[in-house]
Amino acid sequence: MTPEQLRNLVRSVPDFPVPGVLFRDITTLISHAEGLRAAVGHLVDRARASGAQAIAGMEARGFIFGAAVAIELGVGFIPVRKPGKLPVPTVGIDYQLEYGSDRLEVDPTAILPGQKVAIVDDLIATGGTALAAAELLRKVGGVVDQALFVIDLPDLGGAERLRSANVGVDALMS
Ligand code: PRP
Ligand code: ADE
Repeated sequence: MTPEQLRNLVRSVPDFPVPGVLFRDITTLISHAEGLRAAVGHLVDRARASGAQAIAGMEARGFIFGAAVAIELGVGFIPVRKPGKLPVPTVGIDYQLEYGSDRLEVDPTAILPGQKVAIVDDLIATGGTALAAAELLRKVGGVVDQALFVIDLPDLGGAERLRSANVGVDALMS
């Protein structure tokens, strides 16, 4: 599958979830068997090159790609969750979205001290979610120097924000 074919599997929906946002929807990509396999395969290649010892994915869309990458790579998956979902004491962080604010929480026992954790998500926009996840994973002892996305929205500056925090950024398409 060419990069152009992969790009064509992403659906663009204007004014969702609020007016003015052009929503890049991966539903059409993940329901396409070859597209899903190609996207996961490219992410796995990059995660392997980064030397990741674990993959962290953000709820909810990050779970789809993150878990698949972790399985292919043969490492564990760390869910970075929306608030109130984990049944144990959590460490959390509040963050801003392109359209609102939210909070992420992690089970601190899911990460070994010094473990090299790569972040995987479907998309980076403002970078608020990924930056919060990186800070959170670092707070609980992870070494976070790589974040991988299917889609980067460069106009929103997220990748630059992450690089400023010493997190390398790679995306399959812009
Ligand atoms: C989306 C997307 C990223 C984040 C990117 O998730 O999956 O996690 O927004 O935006 P940012 O770079 O501006 O932070 P969302 O919070 O909409 O949740 P979902 O995965 O549950 O749909
Ligand atoms: N998350 C934040 N901004 C987004 C966008 N424009 N499309 C899809 N998911 C998003």
